[in-house]
Amino acid sequence: DFQKKLEYVKKNIRSYPDFPKPGIIFRDIFSVLSNPPAFHALKDALFEHVSEITPKPDVIVVLESRGFLFGPIVALHNIPCVPVRKKGKLPGDICRQEYTLEYGTDVFEIQSDSIKAGQNVLVIDDLLATGGSLKAACLLVKQLKANVIQCLVVMELLNLKGRNHVAVPTHSLIQF
Ligand code: PRP
Ligand code: ADE
Repeated sequence: DFQKKLEYVKKNIRSYPDFPKPGIIFRDIFSVLSNPPAFHALKDALFEHVSEITPKPDVIVVLESRGFLFGPIVALHNIPCVPVRKKGKLPGDICRQEYTLEYGTDVFEIQSDSIKAGQNVLVIDDLLATGGSLKAACLLVKQLKANVIQCLVVMELLNLKGRNHVAVPTHSLIQF
């Protein structure tokens, strides 16, 4: 069942203490992708979760770069998928949003015509840490006058309480 699948996925996420810095436990999602049964289980759980979201999202927004691993899988449910990228990567008219990292700031961008005003958006990323990335993505969607109905992540780092910074309902499949 759903929880059994997620427990199996969690067992297959390799953790690296003190990477990239002392005190941080890096949760490596690529260890799931390198194990087809675990990747299948994660795909099944993502599909099952998304199929139960009401209303059905009009658009999936995926965050560079590890969000790109999962959004497109869900998009095969016949939901258009559009990227949020780090600055300078997207062509055409774009909207920008600065966001905070542990040290300093960075900029996310979205193409202005990628979402229409009033559309319902599902934002997908691999991991929720401080929440800065998801918050910025939600602000970009808001700039385009669309509504984020949910943020969905594969992994959530509970100790950082990042969901408190994301002013939108947020769902995680696996918690650490
Ligand atoms: C990581 C991760 C999330 C973000 C979460 O991405 O993939 O997108 O950090 O952190 P936050 O909740 O504190 O914002 P990173 O910026 O390292 O980029 P990458 O996906 O390109 O590796
Ligand atoms: N991005 C931010 N914090 C992370 C962590 N602990 N593991 C993997 N990716 C991350």
